[in-house]
Amino acid sequence: MELSDIGVVGLGVMGANLARNIESRGFRVSVYNRSGGRHSNVLQSFDGGGKFFPTDNLKSFVESISLPRKIIIMVKAGSAVDDVVSELKPLLSKGDIIIDGGNSDFRDTRRRLAEAESSGLLYVGAGISGGEEGALKGASIMPSGSPEAWPKIKRIFTSIAAKAPDGSPCCRWIGPDGSGHFVKTVHNAIEYADMQIIAETYSLLKCSNKLSNSEMAAVFSDWNCGELQSYLVGITADILEVKDSDGSDLVDKILDSASQKGTGKWAVMSALNEAVPFGLISQAVFARFVSAQKDGRVKASGVFSDRCGISSSGSVSVRDAADAMYASKIMAYAQGFSLMRAASETYGWNLDFAGIAKIWRNGCIIRSVFLDKIAAAFESNPKLENMLFDTYFSNAISEKALPWRKIVSEAVLAGIPAPCMCAALSGFDSLRTARSSANILQALRDYFGSHTYERIDRPRGEFFHTDWAAARVAGPLAKITKKI
Ligand code: 6PG
Repeated sequence: MELSDIGVVGLGVMGANLARNIESRGFRVSVYNRSGGRHSNVLQSFDGGGKFFPTDNLKSFVESISLPRKIIIMVKAGSAVDDVVSELKPLLSKGDIIIDGGNSDFRDTRRRLAEAESSGLLYVGAGISGGEEGALKGASIMPSGSPEAWPKIKRIFTSIAAKAPDGSPCCRWIGPDGSGHFVKTVHNAIEYADMQIIAETYSLLKCSNKLSNSEMAAVFSDWNCGELQSYLVGITADILEVKDSDGSDLVDKILDSASQKGTGKWAVMSALNEAVPFGLISQAVFARFVSAQKDGRVKASGVFSDRCGISSSGSVSVRDAADAMYASKIMAYAQGFSLMRAASETYGWNLDFAGIAKIWRNGCIIRSVFLDKIAAAFESNPKLENMLFDTYFSNAISEKALPWRKIVSEAVLAGIPAPCMCAALSGFDSLRTARSSANILQALRDYFGSHTYERIDRPRGEFFHTDWAAARVAGPLAKITKKI
């Protein structure tokens, strides 16, 4: 009996498109959908053409795949993945490879990997970015897990991946453990930031400059030809030109309440765990929460309509807005890469940051010319502790600092919310402040809780406590400070 090269479980849009992509590269693909059975439309759509093996039960699906079996699970992240894995396990043989291609939490992937390997199976968590079109025509793929699996799936994965401008596939082995899903989570967190920065700029151009949607479309199109060139800037220009059936602009009819599936939140939680400053990206996640509180915002807008100190200068320079976007974007990626660096050290993943930037150059949602600069920065210094210390980025952010400040100031004075751009600028200013105000925090902590502090005139690691109330009364000669 002829056997297939690989199987795909879960024929939602992403799974079905991925199966079609794999088949279009000359591989034989078994397909199975948990719901629907033999007569489902989705299964029938794979019947009667190409090198597909449509199957209506998991046993015949598994039996139709050649050894070692390679099975990609494309179901909703969470318990559905566990369900499929536990249904598959009794049907599989030692050395078979389970691949989770969904947006799973990397901690779930770590657990599933350990469980699969203890049963003699190989397990891969593969972040896949690019949406429906990427799945069909070429995605950015971030696989990790059992290292023995990579040589066995490499040919299929690199052939279904998008190709970067230099022709290399946008798919690399990310590393051990759940590192691939972690990297995909950071990709998504950066996606949140990129989108929020675009939305804030749109707000300024709309509310301060009073540009129409078609005027803004022209601005975004123009930006998409320069250093801001990116998939998201390009599709923003498209969106601003789309008309509803009555001829009005469709974008104006969309409810201003954004959804989210959790990857941005997971990245913020990881940043908290790793103690990585992540203000800008956190703000992009929180901005979605604020957007979803539509009723509260409507109520507050009534309460504060003419009592909020607006003092707008009227409009912003479009050139300055582009610079502010670019500077904010640098901060977003710097935060994302810092988080990956911290996690890489915590979990011993040895992540290749230049390689990650390279596979994000095409296929994924955050693809842009900007990724070339990041790849170059990490290629010239793989140990770069912060992207901002790379010469290109330090020069770029310095050149754009003044326009960035002007844009943030205008947003603040005009009362236009720009949480990401403000947090980006604050993050930059905090980073470049050698002597911060944390001396006050330490004094306060020591005053109310004897939490101790270090001194600038003593070596690091020596801790002191002061009886602050007594010291205030007794003066400098009293022995009220002691080394702990
Ligand atoms: C991708 C996208 C994809 C999905 C997001 C949407 O890389 O292809 O990121 O994974 O569109 O998960 O996420 P939210 O629903 O949280 O915006």
